[in-house]
Amino acid sequence: MTLPKGLAGVVVDQTKISSTKNAILTYAGYRIEDLASAPFEEVVYLLWYGRLPAAEDLHTFTRTLVGHMTLPDETLRLMNEIAKEPQHPMSILRTTVSLLGTTNNVKRDDPPTILGKMLTAIAAIIRIRDGKPLLRAQPDWSVAKNFLYLFSGNTPTDDQAAMFNTVMVLHAEHEFNASTFTARVVASTQSDYYSCLTAAVCALKGPLHGGANERVFNMLETIRAQELAPAEYLKQELAAGHKVMGFGHRIYKNGDPRAKILRGIAEKLADQTGNQDYYDLQATLADFMLKNKHLHPNVDYYTALIYHCLGLDKATFTMLFAACRTAGWLAHILEQQREGCLIRPSSEYVGPTNQHYLENRRHQNDTQQDHIQFG
Ligand SMILES: CC(C)(COP(=O)(O)OP(=O)(O)OC[C@H]1O[C@@H](n2cnc3c(N)ncnc32)[C@H](O)[C@@H]1OP(=O)(O)O)[C@@H](O)C(=O)NCCC(=O)NCCS
Repeated sequence: MTLPKGLAGVVVDQTKISSTKNAILTYAGYRIEDLASAPFEEVVYLLWYGRLPAAEDLHTFTRTLVGHMTLPDETLRLMNEIAKEPQHPMSILRTTVSLLGTTNNVKRDDPPTILGKMLTAIAAIIRIRDGKPLLRAQPDWSVAKNFLYLFSGNTPTDDQAAMFNTVMVLHAEHEFNASTFTARVVASTQSDYYSCLTAAVCALKGPLHGGANERVFNMLETIRAQELAPAEYLKQELAAGHKVMGFGHRIYKNGDPRAKILRGIAEKLADQTGNQDYYDLQATLADFMLKNKHLHPNVDYYTALIYHCLGLDKATFTMLFAACRTAGWLAHILEQQREGCLIRPSSEYVGPTNQHYLENRRHQNDTQQDHIQFG
């Protein structure tokens, strides 16, 4: 049996939610370039129900989602304690999502309720960590505008809300990535939504999945703080065999379609917020990587600068990824529930066989063994 390591390229199930076939990203058959400026709510509806909503349905759906951007007092009381802990924000989020499943109605809460609560909880973690008061969602605003307001405390302009809406759409879904697959495995056991999402957050937390955006900004800060020449920095990193964060992708060998759109947003926001130096540095690094390694920026590369321009601490960047991706996770949980089949693969055993317990136990007692050190 020869399975590729990490199941790379192995098709494990069918989905109608999104596709990256031929390195073209589509949600329910629509190209990401066309959806980039569609309202986030419309894209969520498309991911969950497989079709675009009628205008009236979109209005109702938007009001429903925004109406759920609130948390029970008991959740907030406990979050106030948890979010002040000096752990990484993704650890805080992991505990918070689990807490949402304890202090809310697990049986009654449906995907719109849960998406609204997840966004509100993530904004609240950011505010509590910063020692700032929590804010209330505005019923007449979109989800993207509200979310931006809830964590930043600033009333977004229409232009800012539109740019952030695009960021949310681009991060909403990406077929069977590690966190989505994790959510589907848990859903396949008929566990509840909050348990599926807690598991998805655990998978996203790892540096090989959602942690790259934070590390991209770390790199930019290091180069600037130490006044390093960008080309020299990259040459040294590559010579040391290090992966440069924010570059390369298993599927998009000729460029990530999301990064192309995000670059324009990063440039505009950097200009508006006095962060042009960071944008210029990113452009220089990207040129070098393309010329010398034929590697393109991925979705995390320009997102890092966008989040910095929105005033976010880099440690919270991956939480923003989780906020947007909750839409996709819920779409896959729904699809897995409809499928109703337990995901339980098999493994190929490659360890010793024909072991004899009593004989080996006696032998082990009789001979001096190397001891495994614990602790
Ligand atoms: C995303 C990623 C895991 C995809 O990996 P992959 O498609 O499996 O590609 P591989 O890791 O097999 O890399 C292929 C070659 O390109 C190189 N490469 C890939 N990404 C690289 C990067 N970011 N920096 C330097 N070299 C890189 C590898 O070293 C390898 O070179 P080799 O053939 O000489 O050994 C990888 O590009 C990466 O680690 N990028 C940095 C982390 C990141 O930005 N993650 C967010 C992804 S959205």
